[in-house]
Amino acid sequence: MSSVAITDIGSLVTNDSDLGDGTLGIRTNAAIVVVDGKIAWIGDSKSVGVTDNRISVAGKTVIPGFVDSHAHLVFAGDRSEEFSARMSGESYSAGGIKTTVAATRAASDETLRANTAGLVSELRRSGVTTFESKSGYALDVENEARTLRIAKEFTDETTFLGAHVVPAEFANRADDYVDLVVGKMLQAAKSHAKWIDVFCDKGAFDVDQARAVLRAGVAAGLQPRIHANQLADIGAVKLAVELDCASADHLTHLSDKDIELLSGSKTVATLLPGAEFSTKSEYPDARRLFAAGATVAIATDCNPGSSFTTSMAFCMAIAVRDMGFTPEQALLAATIGGAKALRREDVGALRVGMRADFVVLNAPSYIHLSYRPGVDLVDSTWVGGKTVYQR
Ligand code: NIG
Ligand code: FE
Repeated sequence: MSSVAITDIGSLVTNDSDLGDGTLGIRTNAAIVVVDGKIAWIGDSKSVGVTDNRISVAGKTVIPGFVDSHAHLVFAGDRSEEFSARMSGESYSAGGIKTTVAATRAASDETLRANTAGLVSELRRSGVTTFESKSGYALDVENEARTLRIAKEFTDETTFLGAHVVPAEFANRADDYVDLVVGKMLQAAKSHAKWIDVFCDKGAFDVDQARAVLRAGVAAGLQPRIHANQLADIGAVKLAVELDCASADHLTHLSDKDIELLSGSKTVATLLPGAEFSTKSEYPDARRLFAAGATVAIATDCNPGSSFTTSMAFCMAIAVRDMGFTPEQALLAATIGGAKALRREDVGALRVGMRADFVVLNAPSYIHLSYRPGVDLVDSTWVGGKTVYQR
C-alpha cells in the first residue's frame, strides 16, 4: 500500500456538490489523499493524516482530469494545406479523409506508434487523463485492425470506425463496403475495440447503412456511439437514441426535435468546438441543450482534417465564448460529461473511491481555463495517483 497527500490546494474542484460549494463542489484550502491510485480522503489541508509522501501545491487549483471522449489519434500524413485553403474560402467535406487514408496505409507500425505517442504526450500536457481513439484512417481489413492494435497500446477506450467514409476502391459501391465493414473488417477489429462508431452524415453513410454498422458492432460485443449532424441533419440523432448510443457527437446542425430526443435519453450530446473552429462552421448553441436537460460533453475531436488540436482548454474557451456555455458548464462537460459519454463511473470527478486522475493548474481558479485562452496553465497531470506530466 502506498499513500500520498496533495496539500495546500487553493481551490479544489471535485464535481461533487456534496463535498463543497456549488455544482462543481469547490473546496478551498483543501487536500486529497491518494491510496493505491484511488482517492481515499478529501478534506481541509490542516487535517491531513499521516501518509508516505506529501506534496504541497502551494495554493494552486486542482481539477478532475479531462476526459476526451472523441479523438482520432492513429494516422500519418499532413493536411495543413487543406486547412490553409479552407481559411481562404474552401469548404470542408468528408472527402479529405481519403488523403489521410493513403498516408496511413503506407506508414509503418513504428511511424504510426511514434505519431500517436506524440499526440498522447500533448494530451497529457493539456491535462487529459482519459481519452478515446478511433480507427477510420485505414478502411481495409488489415489496416483497420492494425491501427486499432496500436491505439490499444495507449488507451482502453478504442473505437472501430471502419465506416468513416467509403474508400476510393469502393467508389459507387457503398453497400459492398458496408458489407465488408460488418463482415470481415469487424471480425478483424473487434478484439482491439470497445466501441463501434459510424460517420452518419452527408457524403459519408446514410441512416440505414449506419444502423446496419452499429447493430453488427453491438452483435459482436461492441458498444455504439455515432458521428451525427456535423455537415447536415440526415436523422443521425434519432438513430443514436434508437440504438442507445453512449454519445452522439458533433451536433453542429441540431433541430428542436433532436434536442428533445437527446434530453429524454441516456445518449450524451458531445460537442466538438475545435471542429467548427477549424472548418469555419457555425457554432451550435449549447444553451438549447442545457435548457432541455440534456447531458453535454466537450471533446477535442483531435484529427488531421477537421480539428487538429489536443487542447481541452482551447475547446472549453470556444465553448464559453461562442457556444453559450458558462465556464462551469464547460468544465463539467470536459470532465464528468466526457466520462458519461464513455459510460465511465470511475473517472470525471474527485470522490472517495474514484481513480486519482487530476490536474494541477497554475491559476487561482478553474475559470482561468477559458479566461486565458491559448495559455498553457497545466502544472502537472496525474493518472491513478502518478504524475504523467510535470511542467
Ligand atoms: O470527427 N467527421 C468525421 N470525421 C472527423 C474528420 C475526419 C477528417 O476530416 O479527417 C471528425 O471531424
Ligand atoms: Fe470525429
